[in-house]
Amino acid sequence: MIIIIYRESFLSVSEKDQFEEQLSVEIRFCINSDGYILECNKKGQALVERYGPYFLHFFPDHTACEAKDYLDAIMKSDDIVSALLCDKLSDRDLGTLYNGISKDGKIILVGYRTQMFTHLAGEIVHELRNPLTVIKGFIQLCGYTKEYDKYQPVILSEIDRMYTILENFLTLSLRKSKCQRMNPDEVCKSLISLLSAECVVNKVRLDYDIAYSESVCKIDLDKIKQVMINLLRNALEAFDEHTGEKKIMFRGSVEDNGYRFSLIDNGPGMETDVLNNLGKPLFTTKAKGTGIGLSLCKKIIADHQGTFCISSVNGKGTTVSFFLPFVSP
Ligand SMILES: Nc1ncnc2c1ncn2[C@@H]1O[C@H](COP(=O)(O)OP(=O)(O)OP(=O)(O)O)[C@@H](O)[C@H]1O
Ligand SMILES: [Mg+2]
Repeated sequence: MIIIIYRESFLSVSEKDQFEEQLSVEIRFCINSDGYILECNKKGQALVERYGPYFLHFFPDHTACEAKDYLDAIMKSDDIVSALLCDKLSDRDLGTLYNGISKDGKIILVGYRTQMFTHLAGEIVHELRNPLTVIKGFIQLCGYTKEYDKYQPVILSEIDRMYTILENFLTLSLRKSKCQRMNPDEVCKSLISLLSAECVVNKVRLDYDIAYSESVCKIDLDKIKQVMINLLRNALEAFDEHTGEKKIMFRGSVEDNGYRFSLIDNGPGMETDVLNNLGKPLFTTKAKGTGIGLSLCKKIIADHQGTFCISSVNGKGTTVSFFLPFVSP
């Protein structure tokens, strides 16, 4: 059974005028996989009375194909965000209208951004309050002791942390994507400079092996950089005193129909229960983690029509990779 929140753009303009009042609020349907409406709210009832109990019959001929594709897409979709949120949202907990997403019959079509934001906003306020308290304390201390040099690194690192939290939050917001066709190996080269600076500062050896590619992918470079920064930070934060020489390998490889970007670390890896929990929203094992990093990476890669993969051997290290499909040049 699927709950559909009606997507306004599928109605023709004239229909919109006629049903303006209905469309200004949520119209909810509960449908089966054939598109037969099992239940709906009051606003939905108005459409059912007029067009009958089949969801697809609501659409004028010229949008029928689009509507069918939409229905098929949400039936099949395994959108990572819905996967992430299916634990959190129950049928009763539907948020504000945004769009449709689905997962194997147990569908939730929700204003997930609203839901997520309400939740995240609380988290973010909470997360930002901690570094602010630390910064305030240290600045007060500087006032008493006049030892500015001593406290400056802590203050700066807390400010950096606040930037990270805000950056992540912004990426989850509705910022438009700026995709362009790019050679993936060129992308790798621009990522290397980013990775090497952080590795030098953290005394980690960085190796790389980038395969040349004639084909191109559609890439929003800023976002892919953000994925890399998140993955790199995870690797750096994972290293502990048991890791001998800390090493990170960055690999770019050509595969069938696409290009794979991999980041391999020789850190402690993950225990099975950590691996099982990855992908749950806000899951973290770190005292100061927000648990947004990987969810964000997965979302960005899904927006690129790519796939995301994590493998980890406890005690040996972790490999995180993502695959971006080639597009015609
Ligand atoms: N390379 C890695 N090696 C070991 N564990 C990892 C690695 N990458 C991720 N993890 C585990 O996955 C968890 C979730 O990572 P995620 O990036 O989503 O959140 P976080 O790093 O805890 O917080 P933040 O939102 O600040 O990134 C981490 O807390 C950590 O336990
Ligand atoms: Mg992280």
